[in-house]
Amino acid sequence: MKNIEVNVKETLAAVTGEQIQALAPEAANAMKMLADGSGLGSDFLGWVNLPSEITDAHLSDIEAAAKNLRDNCDYVVAIGIGGSYLGAKAVIEGLSDSFAQLRPEGDARRCRVIFAGQNIGEDYLNELQDLLKGRKFGIIVISKSGTTTEPAIAFRLLKEQLESQLGKAEASKRIVAVTDAARGALRQLATEEGYKTFVIPDNVGGRFSVLTPVGLLPIAVAGFDIRALVDGARRMEAATAEGVEGNPAALYAMTRNALYRAGKKIEILVNFNPKLHFFAEWWKQLYGESEGKDGKGIYPSSVDFTTDLHSMGQWIQEGERTIFETVLSVETTAHKTVIPTDPANLDGLNFLAGKRVDEVNKMAELGTRLAHVDGGVPNIRITIPALTETYLGELIYFFEKACGISGYLLGVNPFNQPGVEAYKRNMFALLDKPGYEEASAVIKARL
Ligand code: PA5
Repeated sequence: MKNIEVNVKETLAAVTGEQIQALAPEAANAMKMLADGSGLGSDFLGWVNLPSEITDAHLSDIEAAAKNLRDNCDYVVAIGIGGSYLGAKAVIEGLSDSFAQLRPEGDARRCRVIFAGQNIGEDYLNELQDLLKGRKFGIIVISKSGTTTEPAIAFRLLKEQLESQLGKAEASKRIVAVTDAARGALRQLATEEGYKTFVIPDNVGGRFSVLTPVGLLPIAVAGFDIRALVDGARRMEAATAEGVEGNPAALYAMTRNALYRAGKKIEILVNFNPKLHFFAEWWKQLYGESEGKDGKGIYPSSVDFTTDLHSMGQWIQEGERTIFETVLSVETTAHKTVIPTDPANLDGLNFLAGKRVDEVNKMAELGTRLAHVDGGVPNIRITIPALTETYLGELIYFFEKACGISGYLLGVNPFNQPGVEAYKRNMFALLDKPGYEEASAVIKARL
């Protein structure tokens, strides 16, 4: 089996190999802190050995709950936000047929997982309720804290709808809660209502939780092989466990930090495969919440190429030279499509006749890389043999491990997110939440 590979050769006009390697002792120290829990945020290191610690029985339990939902529901709404949403969304989109949501019932490629609670869009929720009217649906409600406003609103609405469609007793068989072992409103509700529950371990933070039931349950409901996903993560756990030399996660972490120290403050995660759009969203949360603090941090952004070459391409080619790109390069496609010959050749495309669409895409990728490197954009390339469960599992763990190392290289606590609370405080004060009276008076005086 091939491996995911990291190539940093095309960064060497901006930083030297020696500058990257100079970070090796710091990276080794970061890895030690991740292994022995001697660094900042050590209460949240449960993800480090998570893949190898997942038991067969645990996977069987998740698969059984997924089967129950699949057997009884045409749609399953996964409710969650941030780390309780993006990992499942990324994997499902990465593996699904591009038109899975539009496939008719009975088509094996149809995806029955819908996401909610990741926004407070009134139209989104209203239209979702309208879609589910009279339909067989179920709910996976995911919240570690059990108190997050966005999923709580969505759950309140959909729970009421499900109960009015099925009655309370039947509805409770189609609701699964994924939450903290003991604390929080959702845990209490699940206990009172008798929902099937799964635990998010205390020591795994939201953005590192895709390989817990947070991600695995919706992914299994969507029909994908969670054992292969976990196997991939295990492979990468083993490949990145020890030593900096030959360790792809350490190489990526060292290179992006060397670039950051050389003034490259923005990292653009690039894909040439639209199925990876939400993988980039997951990656942005992982790195954004882990590193953007104490006035520091590489700003994580993303583009889908070639689509965004027609919108952001100009900026990347010639704008401020504070960026670097990390390209997710998928080697093979799942299907084969050949460009046909057209005798009239009015579009002048006969030079491509007989070539596969992916051959054109690969030349677009190569051409873009050369152009951007010529334009002063350092390029890290991550090669993924194919979009499969195993390789996505590898990629997830690769980025998690690299994120832990990178956060310590940056000198921050990669496992907290104190800044996320600021908007919540204001929102609650503006909405007159009990307990926020003083803050309400202060904020309203500003308006
Ligand atoms: O990574 C994180 O901790 C956050 O993004 C959380 O996942 C997000 O805020 C949702 O929190 P919860 O699962 O408690 O509802």
